[in-house]
Amino acid sequence: MPVEELNLDQYRITAQELQALSAKCLEARERAYCPYSQFRVGAALLLRPQSESTTATAEHNIVIGANVENAAYPVGTCAERVAVGTAVVQGYKRGDIRAVGVATDIEGYCSPCGMCRQFLREFLDLDTPIFMHNKDGNFQVKTMGELLPMSFGPDVLPPPEELLASRAG
Ligand code: THU
Repeated sequence: MPVEELNLDQYRITAQELQALSAKCLEARERAYCPYSQFRVGAALLLRPQSESTTATAEHNIVIGANVENAAYPVGTCAERVAVGTAVVQGYKRGDIRAVGVATDIEGYCSPCGMCRQFLREFLDLDTPIFMHNKDGNFQVKTMGELLPMSFGPDVLPPPEELLASRAG
């Protein structure tokens, strides 16, 4: 979808931020380790600045990931989960991810796999946009809630003590 046809206000993201996010996920593809599939995936997360941060430019608030495969095929990891794990160890918290960008080398718009949707759901609000880019940098956008309807998330889990107490007696 051409960016000028998009109402970015609904995603609470500026054209400059989206441009930076798109550039970063496309660039992140180059970091992919994918000797088995040759299917490069780049991911980028637009993050809320951490409170101690003094450099609040969009450029500094983007964390990237790429897929990392393994000779034992199922052990490989997707780009989206690498990006989220990286952000978490850098100190970002649930709710800090404002938008996600994903890019591949194909003509179509590759959407996050089921496991990645659930992984993202832990950290994203349901209205957080996920921009899915094709090889040329064109994209389609869906929210977390659209990609994973009726999802199971941390908000669904009651405190374990409460569950224990409700079972006792
Ligand atoms: N892959 C991702 O990185 N993200 C997705 O959402 C779909 C699949 C990777 C996993 C594997 O390295 C390659 O793409 C082919 O499945």
